[in-house]
Amino acid sequence: MPPSLRSRAQTAASLIDASLDDCGFVRAPGRVNLIGEHTDYQDGFCLPMAIDLDVIVAWRTHPDDDVVVASSAHTDRATFDRSVPPSTLEPAWARPAAGMAAELADDHDIRVGVALGVDSTVPIGAGLSSSAAFEVAVGLALATAAGSALTGDALALAAQRAEHRSTGMPCGVMDQMASVHGQAGHALLLDCRTLGVAPVRIPDDLAVVVVHCGIPRTLVGTEYAERRAGVEAAAARLGVPTLRDAQPEAVANDPLARHVVSENRRTLMFVAALRRGRVDELGPLMLASHASLRDDYEVSTPALDVLVDSLMEAGAIGARLTGAGFGGCVVALTPASRAEQIADVACDHYRSRTNQVPTPFVVAAADGARRLDPTIESGDR
Ligand code: GLA
Repeated sequence: MPPSLRSRAQTAASLIDASLDDCGFVRAPGRVNLIGEHTDYQDGFCLPMAIDLDVIVAWRTHPDDDVVVASSAHTDRATFDRSVPPSTLEPAWARPAAGMAAELADDHDIRVGVALGVDSTVPIGAGLSSSAAFEVAVGLALATAAGSALTGDALALAAQRAEHRSTGMPCGVMDQMASVHGQAGHALLLDCRTLGVAPVRIPDDLAVVVVHCGIPRTLVGTEYAERRAGVEAAAARLGVPTLRDAQPEAVANDPLARHVVSENRRTLMFVAALRRGRVDELGPLMLASHASLRDDYEVSTPALDVLVDSLMEAGAIGARLTGAGFGGCVVALTPASRAEQIADVACDHYRSRTNQVPTPFVVAAADGARRLDPTIESGDR
């Protein structure tokens, strides 16, 4: 059984030499995207859900105004003040925290001396937004420690800028919005132009299975930036602010733009099917999304393609790569009663075809970032 919330909070507190009673606590979840990939930075639609893998941060203020970060995943601590450029901080794992501290200081005048103890169950670098969850949790901890009510879209946007500033990855806003606004039992239809969030119920008889292909994401930063520049150029050629405004006929001969425009349409169709209870329509839309990411956007890998096939052959309703691509994870929908079995069979097939070691997770849609009181919350998961 996974460790309880209380014992994870104790771990986080002990990292900063404190006990439960000495600290405040926050948590922020990772996310998986059901459909709507590589659309967020073109004002498009996507359908992520926050998941029950998360980052817990214990915080305690101190008199200096520097920030100390310790993590159960790393042996070294980071200490920084606001004069250090976040992208140069050592140890590098703490850069997103420095990015968040810098954003909150610059844009929200939040400057507080604090020690942060971090315990995460989001696998690092797997495409489940370990970095966004880290940034959102650190941001909420810093804001709470400073007595600020910063939350919601402002917190998500600060976390997105922190990612740009600390890692150079020009991400969209999907991951941070999902981590902030998640709702148990629901995926979130995000309109990345208006930042509108519409919860969409996931039927109880469906399970969401995520499988890591065993190959870490490679080239994510550079290839991602190239794709992003490519669709920005396509929008400029068409004379529209973003591809959200482009018609299918206008992009018929441009594979990158064609992916974005068709993916927006698939996302809205997927949501309509979920709302009408048309589970039979979900699988073909997920497979079409994967094919478009593979053939038009060129962000899949042979291993991800085999993993999608293995999940479908094992009985999944639909499957597709999730997140940026170039390695990382596939997401599948399965009947809830057969989730574990389908994941096991698919992993066996995949292992024998590729010699890679996959890791399956059956995830549940969880609430977004919030403050915690581990002394009264049971949180056993
Ligand atoms: C990464 C980015 C997101 C989004 C996805 C692709 O996860 O952080 O903003 O662009 O890739 O959909």
